[in-house]
Order: sequence, then structure tokens, then C-alpha cells
Amino acid sequence: MIVVTGATGNVGRSLVRILADAGRQVTATSRRISDADVPQGVRHHRADLTTPEGLRPVLDGADALFLHDTATSAHLLRPQDILDAARAGGVGRVVVLSSQGVATRPDSASHGIVGRSIEDAVRRSGMDWTILRPGGFHSNAYAWSESVRTRRTVAAPFGDIGLPTVDPADIAGVAAAALYEDGHAGQVYELTGPALTTPRQRVQAIGDALGEPVRFVEQTRDEARAEMLRFMPEPVVETTLAILGEPTPAEQRVSPDVERVLGRAPGSFADWARRHAAAFR
Ligand SMILES: NC(=O)c1ccc[n+]([C@@H]2O[C@H](COP(=O)([O-])OP(=O)(O)OC[C@H]3O[C@@H](n4cnc5c(N)ncnc54)[C@H](OP(=O)(O)O)[C@@H]3O)[C@@H](O)[C@H]2O)c1
Repeated sequence: MIVVTGATGNVGRSLVRILADAGRQVTATSRRISDADVPQGVRHHRADLTTPEGLRPVLDGADALFLHDTATSAHLLRPQDILDAARAGGVGRVVVLSSQGVATRPDSASHGIVGRSIEDAVRRSGMDWTILRPGGFHSNAYAWSESVRTRRTVAAPFGDIGLPTVDPADIAGVAAAALYEDGHAGQVYELTGPALTTPRQRVQAIGDALGEPVRFVEQTRDEARAEMLRFMPEPVVETTLAILGEPTPAEQRVSPDVERVLGRAPGSFADWARRHAAAFR
């Protein structure tokens, strides 16, 4: 049995499907998960990662755990308690969704320090572990879906600065491999897409997927900050703006790890936009 936390999210939903399609037994968990969120026949269980006792019943007797870091609420997350419960339940393997920021922004409270403490707990867990450090997700473009749907416009900062954003389905693919194949214990995988794309190019790709032009309006940093503060805590906003506006060479590097694990190139933003065009129509 493989337990997947964050199972209704961009990564977790794909992961549950990949594991179920591969014939693996899965228990999908999140706070609000219901029948409609899982493929037919997949077991699900409601649990809050901030109160790890709720996960105990599904961890007992499980083989492997996919641990979603829920970084934005990580001050509430007690990874040690979850990992202790997993080990006590007989779980032998843990795969954690961390972030590239642990390596590239080590001093950032939101990305580096919190992420490092979760990774450290995983390393000390006594289980076989694999750490996934993705860069920005293709699915961050969902933040633009309403303005594309209603106005065929996207307002975003740093229109011409490229990042190798990654398809959450590829993160899920690597997670699945690490959860049930051998050879991934003790590995730290850095996960990116196949190429740098700029916000302007991503907006163009959404327009191409829709078959209609979508206008790009470049925001100032202050305009972007004000908008992001409406739904993200301040330290997350500042680090995110720094990554989007002044990425380090490591944040702009295309990593070979998705291809190394999956044996194929990572999915492009344009491909993600075509598959998810309905969200922007
Ligand atoms: N987006 C990026 O660019 C990026 C880059 C690097 C790393 N990451 C990491 O990836 C993660 C986001 O992954 P994602 O996009 O797959 O997530 P997502 O789509 O935001 O989904 C979050 C999942 O976690 C569950 N969840 C949230 N709070 C919970 C809690 N207290 N207890 C139990 N479950 C909880 C949610 O379901 P319920 O609401 O039903 O609980 C949902 O299943 C972040 O933590 C971030 O650190 C993201």
C-alpha cells in the first residue's frame, strides 16, 4: 500500500492516477478528499497534516509514503510526527515533495529554512528516502485562468525572464518511480521542464492552445507584490518575486533528472497548456 498525501493537488492527483494505472494499491489523502477526487476503486481517507494522528490508521501496514510539504503552512506541519507514525506503522520508504529553493534560496524563511527542516527530518527518518526538489510548476499559470477566461489578458511581472518550469505530472511520474522502483533511495532529484520559457511565451502558448490571442500586460514589481500579498504570506511573496525577477544560474538550469528517471524528456509548457486548455476557455 502506498499512501499519498496532498492527493487532490496538482502533483498528488496525477500521482494517484499513475499508481492506480500501474496496478499499485493506493490510499489517497487530503483534508477534504471525497469519492469524486479518486479513480474508481482507489481508497481515500481524510486527514490533516497538521494533526498527524489522523494519518495513523492508513500508515499502519503501508509500504511507502508520499509526503507533500504544504510549504505555505509548514509552520504548522510536524513532519517528524508523521514520519515517526509512518516508521512505527512499518512504512519502509518515503518520498518527499520539497523545493529547489532549499538549494537555491537557503536563507529564505519560506523556501530554504522550512524546506531544509522537512528534508532533514526525512533524512533522519530511518526509512529509505528520496527528495524531490522541483522548480516552478507549469500549473502556476492557473493563477491567470480567470483573467484569460474573462478578458483574454494576463498581467504578470518580469515578462522576458525565463525559467524552466516543470509539469506537475512529471513530478508525479518521478515520485511514482521512487515509491515503487528500486534504486532511488538516498537520491535528491532536481526537477525542471525541458527549456526556459518566459511569462510572455507562456501566455502566447495559452493563446495558441485556445486558438485565440491572449494579451500580455507587464506588471511592475510593486503591482505584482500587491496582488500576490492577497493570497500568499509576505516572506513567500518576497522570495517568489526574487526567483521570478532575479533567478540564480541554478534556477535557470535545465536539470537532466526527469529524463534520467522517466527515460523521456520532460513535458513542455506548451504541451501542459494544450492538455489544460479547458481551464482557460
Ligand atoms: N508551485 C510551485 O511552483 C512549487 C515549486 C516548488 C515546490 N512546490 C511545492 O509543491 C507544493 C504544491 O504542490 P501542488 O501544486 O501539488 O499542491 P496543491 O495543488 O496546492 O494542493 C495542495 C494539496 O495539499 C492538500 N493540503 C493542503 N493543506 C493540507 C493540510 N493541512 N493537511 C492535509 N492536506 C493538505 C490539499 O488538499 P485539501 O485542501 O483537501 O487538504 C491538496 O491536496 C507546495 O507545498 C510547494 O512547496 C511548489
